[in-house]
Amino acid sequence: MKLNIPENIESIKPYPPGKPLDELEREYGITNSIKLASNENPWGPSPKVIKALGAELLNLHRYPDGSCHYLTEAIASKSGVDPAEIVLGNGSNEIIEFLVKAFVREGDEVISSHPSFLMYQKFVQVRGGTNNVVPLVDMHHDLPAIKELVNEKTRLIFIDNPNNPTGTTIPPVELYRFFSDIPEHVIVVLDEAYVDFMDEELKVDVYSLLRNKDGRCPVVFMRTFSKAYGLSGLRVGFGLMAKEIASCLHKVRQPFNINQMAQVGAITALEDEDYYQQTLDFTARGIAFLSKEVDGLGCTSYPTQTNFFLIDVKGNADKLYQLLLYEGVIVRSMSAYGFENFIRITVGTEEENIRFVKALAKCLDELEYVK
Ligand SMILES: Cc1ncc(COP(=O)(O)O)c(C=O)c1O
Repeated sequence: MKLNIPENIESIKPYPPGKPLDELEREYGITNSIKLASNENPWGPSPKVIKALGAELLNLHRYPDGSCHYLTEAIASKSGVDPAEIVLGNGSNEIIEFLVKAFVREGDEVISSHPSFLMYQKFVQVRGGTNNVVPLVDMHHDLPAIKELVNEKTRLIFIDNPNNPTGTTIPPVELYRFFSDIPEHVIVVLDEAYVDFMDEELKVDVYSLLRNKDGRCPVVFMRTFSKAYGLSGLRVGFGLMAKEIASCLHKVRQPFNINQMAQVGAITALEDEDYYQQTLDFTARGIAFLSKEVDGLGCTSYPTQTNFFLIDVKGNADKLYQLLLYEGVIVRSMSAYGFENFIRITVGTEEENIRFVKALAKCLDELEYVK
């Protein structure tokens, strides 16, 4: 084959796909493994969602509503914004893609942090844009350094708040100051995939940032149903933004980008507020339990505003990751992110959390990381 592959595509490192659970179990000769690696919700969606999806199976021969009318209305009434300020995506991943497609031309610049969510840089590369990457400082976004890099060519700034993988957040006053320092031609994208788990006083005021534009940069908020609502598999996310930005994003999206099951699942999930609250409570309880137990084993847990957190295991994280796999426990080693001695774990069910702690204790003992 004689393919003419553009250099920007050739140089992309493919997203490393996680192995399916049953493959991994076969490889390691284990059964009943638990996955605490992908920041998913271990309790799954509301039972009302499952029921609604079952009923919706009868409509699979129809195209979905391309305007996502009812889901958009539901999000608008929950968040207090106008339906015209909402764009839905096949996961919030797709909102990132739309933003880059709509606003980045070859040679334009986009700023993001490292480590942070990997997809920002990938879509920019596909588009032939330039990624300007700012290292985190003390596990936090370095807003002054980001501001320093802004120039005439800058189109977008991606900031995940809370940050993945560290779970840290930026104090709202610092963010407001940052927004007012960034020029109007730059869109700042605040990726709030984990906003549901944040303390109220740390959340920024979406409504006022969308409405009071007064000579500063526009801000786009990204949210998802993949985390607190337990719908990672359905792929639904959305962005909140000025109408002018939303109409650009609608121009670059496919007409039926949100499938019918996803629309029904997300609407029903929004309606079940008790279940949502229960998920948040379970998550907070799980994080508190895990942090205490992990610290008790001699590791250091890091504070988080999400459903995951970092642990300093006081020794090589890759080795520990491998050993935990033989115990049927899948976590994420952070060595590829430059944190050699860190793993990241997602909160599991009570049973999974207990199993993780036992497995961690055994592996730490074997590796003699902590005395
Ligand atoms: C910071 C951050 N942003 C976005 C996403 C993507 O979420 P979605 O499933 O909505 O595409 C993730 C997923 O893990 C994430 O961690």
